[in-house]
Amino acid sequence: MCVVGARPNFMKIAPILRAFAAHQPPVPAFLVHTGQHYDASMSDKLFEDLALPRPDLNLEVGSGSHAVQTAEVMKRFEPALDEHKPSCVLVVGDVNSTLACSLVAVKKGVPVVHVEAGLRSGDRRMPEEINRVLTDQISDRLYTTERSALANLQREGVAAERVCFAGNVMIDSLHASRPRARNAADTLRAHGHDAGVLNGAAGYGVVTLHRPSNVDHAEVLRALLETLRTVAQRLPLVFALHPRTRANIERFGLAELVDPARMILLPPQGYLEMLGLMGGAALVLTDSGGLQEETTALGVPCLTLRENTERPITVEQGTNTMVGRDRAAILAGVDDILAGRGKHGRVPEYWDGHAAERIAADLWRWLSQPRAEH
Ligand code: UD1
Repeated sequence: MCVVGARPNFMKIAPILRAFAAHQPPVPAFLVHTGQHYDASMSDKLFEDLALPRPDLNLEVGSGSHAVQTAEVMKRFEPALDEHKPSCVLVVGDVNSTLACSLVAVKKGVPVVHVEAGLRSGDRRMPEEINRVLTDQISDRLYTTERSALANLQREGVAAERVCFAGNVMIDSLHASRPRARNAADTLRAHGHDAGVLNGAAGYGVVTLHRPSNVDHAEVLRALLETLRTVAQRLPLVFALHPRTRANIERFGLAELVDPARMILLPPQGYLEMLGLMGGAALVLTDSGGLQEETTALGVPCLTLRENTERPITVEQGTNTMVGRDRAAILAGVDDILAGRGKHGRVPEYWDGHAAERIAADLWRWLSQPRAEH
């Protein structure tokens, strides 16, 4: 039983389902969507872009506080487990649905399999960090995307035998979808913008922001938008706005900080649109985990507007630089990249488009072992 809930889960599960189907013998899968993300732009469009099958079951939990959302997923997931009796529950990433379904499964004695295990930002104020730590503690089989994850897990008492370094399934999706990426100019035109703005000497930048720590406080969001407005004088910026961020810009009365000639606000974008926008960009400014990885795989310089990252390999080997929310650091990072001093990076080990196949093979072997060994 494979679980997805929120946007970043969809690109992780797509290659896993494909690898399960291609495995000999095929690994049967039942797809549950918790409904944590429900907007067409946050969910349906991505299913389409990633050629994901329709979920076998949608729990339709919707939005709520963390407690309400997590509890609602748990309540609605339990009967599905009782009814379908899967051999394991496979969860991906670090969203509330990941933890909620793992918790239900482990208490029912159903093995939990976690894809993208062992990533740690070290920052427990992030809801995702709590979800990561707890999910890994109750998982029976853990698949990691980078080698540093094993050390994190061992520090928390997870036995190395439970852990398998499989690589990055997000990058499997990127490889599979890149030929279908949508041209950036077409994306702008589709939203009624003049695509000529992309053709300036400096190119263009792509921005995404949605972390509560960056967008939920008026003063923090104001300062970030002011800095981005300054960046936009150097190169035009295309924003793909998360619903939370759009709502907060309105609520805090910050819309006047947006320079419409140089800052293009788009609704949340599909996967193929994002790939096209990122692929053609001079740089990406983001607080997303997924974009840190995708820019590294694409070789596009990334400035991460956070103090920490759970994906250190993107900084050590990839194109990522942590700049926090500090205005001077952000502007200096942009200057460096525009002067050709940005990171070129290299693609990390096992970010090769075959991670899901390694997971399918390992999981099949693992599930075939006598039960007592689990
Ligand atoms: C969730 C994940 C985060 C991930 C992000 C990607 C958790 C704790 N966080 O954060 O790790 O990076 O998804 O987007 O699980 N909303 C809509 N339409 C939707 C979904 C949400 O308008 O389809 C709005 C609602 O106002 C909602 C808010 O966005 O209250 C936040 O949604 P939620 O799922 O709680 O968390 P995200 O901030 O999206």
